[in-house]
Amino acid sequence: MTQTKTKPTPTQARKNGQPGGPCAMVIFGASGDLTKRKLVPALYNLCRQGLLPDSFAVIGFARSSLTTDGFRRAMREDIKRFCDCTPEPGLWDWIESRIHYVSGDATEPASFQALRAQLAEVERDHGTQGNVLFYLSTAPEHFGTIVRQLRDAELTDEKRGWRRVIVEKPFGRDLESARTLNADLRTVLGEPQIYRIDHYLGKETVQNLLVFRFANGIFEPIWNRRYVDHVQITVSETVGVESRAGYFDHAGTLRDMVPNHIFQLISLVAMEPPISFEADAVRDEQAKVLRAIQPMSEEEVLQRTVRGQYGAGRAGEKDLPAYRAEKNVAPGSSTETFVAMKLGIDSWRWKDVPFYLRVGKALRERRTEIVVQFRRPPFSLFRGTSVEALTPNRLVVRIQPDEGIQLQFGAKIPGATMRLGTVDMDFRYQDHFGAEPATGYERLLYDAVLGDQTLFQRADMVEAGWSVVTPMLDVWSALPPRNFPNYAAGSTGPKEADALLERDGRRWHEPEPPGSP
Ligand SMILES: NC(=O)c1ccc[n+]([C@@H]2O[C@H](COP(=O)([O-])OP(=O)(O)OC[C@H]3O[C@@H](n4cnc5c(N)ncnc54)[C@H](OP(=O)(O)O)[C@@H]3O)[C@@H](O)[C@H]2O)c1
Repeated sequence: MTQTKTKPTPTQARKNGQPGGPCAMVIFGASGDLTKRKLVPALYNLCRQGLLPDSFAVIGFARSSLTTDGFRRAMREDIKRFCDCTPEPGLWDWIESRIHYVSGDATEPASFQALRAQLAEVERDHGTQGNVLFYLSTAPEHFGTIVRQLRDAELTDEKRGWRRVIVEKPFGRDLESARTLNADLRTVLGEPQIYRIDHYLGKETVQNLLVFRFANGIFEPIWNRRYVDHVQITVSETVGVESRAGYFDHAGTLRDMVPNHIFQLISLVAMEPPISFEADAVRDEQAKVLRAIQPMSEEEVLQRTVRGQYGAGRAGEKDLPAYRAEKNVAPGSSTETFVAMKLGIDSWRWKDVPFYLRVGKALRERRTEIVVQFRRPPFSLFRGTSVEALTPNRLVVRIQPDEGIQLQFGAKIPGATMRLGTVDMDFRYQDHFGAEPATGYERLLYDAVLGDQTLFQRADMVEAGWSVVTPMLDVWSALPPRNFPNYAAGSTGPKEADALLERDGRRWHEPEPPGSP
């Protein structure tokens, strides 16, 4: 009997820890920051884990006039700084021998002919079989131009192998520009060829949210408005704007963080169980959540959103100048470095359960977490005891640092009187599974090579996110300039963010400082 050898599906390949099939990866923007800090270290980590195909090659593309040798030398130096480990010479040599460079300009057709020739060469030398993963790691204004140039150079048609394009963030700056970019990409590529990346989804804890919710029978029955009082998402950084002011001062925290990272987290917390882990089954459910976020009227934007900008102070053991005094920030800038808001989700599961978000720079600590706070039990049993002051049950999903999951509940303090305290069941990833060096891009690159779009955003998801955020941007831009700064670097943010919850009788979750009883 003859057996036909079938190609494993992405799910089977991942389950068996198999590398993806032969392919070349072209990085547009190869002389930039992302390539050296994240992409090349992620490729090295994948190689260490045996997840890169044998028939593999990388082609860097940028205007800088480098040779392949010069680019290899630069990557060899950079990997030592950015891979969080000492690169093993054998492994690095393997990758390095597969790295090539094309010096070209995204606006010039001749550069794409040079790229085409280089692709033919790596196909011959490395057996990449015509499969190509293009990674757009340039400023977003080049995204549309690059895909059109790829089409004109006949590099996007899939007659001789698959062609996929990873698109970096930011994906648009409002609903209209996101729609335009989607339309630009779609004139050249089919949706199954487009991989809109959000590196938050490369984080283990974020992926674990799906497993935690749907592989454990005990949480799903209480994961709804009957038992959940509210949800909080905090993304707090200690760093200021650093070297990104040129981009950031035109974007602000709302655009930079909310429609992408934070909405991905909300969709994973709030989605219904998908019927499978196939890409569109998962993304259909995520998209439904994003479409169900209540749109805000002008009045509601004023009541339910808070903007902040940091003043001088000390955060993360560094003295920071006020945002307006940072290099490349416009004097008198009204760009927000902090946002808090209260959102509602119009679904049977979440009606009347507020989702509070806060995200900002130059804050007291570096912390990304999701807190699901459950309703309090009825009090009559403990009336007159200290239980009324007890914190309700909370499930805290820590995304960074110290990734883990913590369940807080009340317990009796030993002794003759009825005194209660709050205790934690705490699971730390590092204790159970150890820590592998990772940039967060490994899983996403691996998935793109396998052809699995589950952790990439679909056009409708991106547009649904911008539909929520754009009215906020419109209301804010119509207001007179804010009297910024309104919080000091190293604090927990503006007072109005605390007031947002206090009005509802709630407080932001602040973990106990280390060493407290
Ligand atoms: N850096 C990060 O950690 C990070 C994180 C998340 C998302 N991102 C996103 O990733 C993308 C890249 O970020 P980055 O920080 O690497 O930016 P970057 O350091 O400014 O690099 C931009 C790259 O684009 C190239 N480039 C510019 N104009 C070009 C042209 N006309 N033709 C060909 N290449 C051109 C530049 O090289 P030449 O000057 O040599 O041409 C450079 O290699 C951006 O969309 C950013 O928002 C970055």
